[in-house]
Amino acid sequence: MVAIRGAITVDSNTREEILAASKTLLTGLITSNSLEIRQIVSIIFTATHDLNQAYPAVAARELGVTDAGLICMQEMRVEGSLPQCLRVMILAEKDMPQAAARHLYLKGAVRLRPELAGFFAVAIDGPAGVGKGTLAKKLAEALNFTYVDTGALYRAVAYFCIREGVSPDDPGRVESVLSKLEISAECVNNTQRVLLGGEDVTDSLRTPEISEASSKVAAIPAVRAKLLKLQRDIAEGANVVMEGRDIGVKILPFAQVKIYLDAGLDERARRRYTERAAEGIGADLGAIKRELEERDLRDARREDSPLAKAGDAVLIDSTDMSPWQVTEAALRIIHEKTGGLHGGIQAG
Ligand code: DC
Repeated sequence: MVAIRGAITVDSNTREEILAASKTLLTGLITSNSLEIRQIVSIIFTATHDLNQAYPAVAARELGVTDAGLICMQEMRVEGSLPQCLRVMILAEKDMPQAAARHLYLKGAVRLRPELAGFFAVAIDGPAGVGKGTLAKKLAEALNFTYVDTGALYRAVAYFCIREGVSPDDPGRVESVLSKLEISAECVNNTQRVLLGGEDVTDSLRTPEISEASSKVAAIPAVRAKLLKLQRDIAEGANVVMEGRDIGVKILPFAQVKIYLDAGLDERARRRYTERAAEGIGADLGAIKRELEERDLRDARREDSPLAKAGDAVLIDSTDMSPWQVTEAALRIIHEKTGGLHGGIQAG
């Protein structure tokens, strides 16, 4: 039997937020301890006195925990205690030493047990061409975290398939060449390099052809399954700012900070056009707009891990904002979510 503990804070005393936070915490504890649902014997929840609603049982049931004993209690009023906090203890029938249990203290709760908080993750999701890369790089620099561009991993898979003569439109063949795919990422001078079997292919990944092909291979569940572990492994070994489409919902559901960056299609097309023109690449605004729109539709409609805003992500609509303003807004969000406390963040 192993006892796994965790806590998370919420920003408002609402059903929606409390439910989302309970799920984030439970999912994080289950994933980071590789628990199987059937191993969970019981879950004890507590909520601080300033939360007058709690839905831990709903959260647990919705995650598929149907057989475990569940109990929820309200904590006493304790002078100076952390406000709006949910705590949880999972008792599981798992053959692992108690010392190996991974506990999670998320959001403002980082300050309760900074030594147990593990690494810190900022998840940034949003549609194509919205400026996730620009924001994520700036944040990583400001926080001294590792920048992770997950789109580049899907791009590298697309590049690999094309090089192998496999069409991204043929899921069966893509799946069959995946066993040959050796992909890794490393951080060099604050930039991410993607390697295929040791060969650095980073500079070949940003062409329009690879953009389209990457969105196609990204819809194939076997590709997503292969990249899931790589992405989680990176976040388990470093403080990260990770950007993509499903980071907050699927890859790092327990990320301490989640941001969903959005902007209107016309503005995104205009930005991409200016970017390509500055790089001296001939660009056609109408074609760029169509390319982004098509990719967004595919990324948002696929069945496996579509582009989505996590329930506990903060939305930044950057349509009328400069890159500098977006970075400022994101840093403010990080500051608020962590109570300005970076003591819980291990140096990157
Ligand atoms: O962010 P990007 O444009 O470099 O991503 C290229 C494609 O990869 C994108 O169209 C969808 C896919 N992708 C994904 O499905 N999930 C991610 N986490 C990141 C990218």
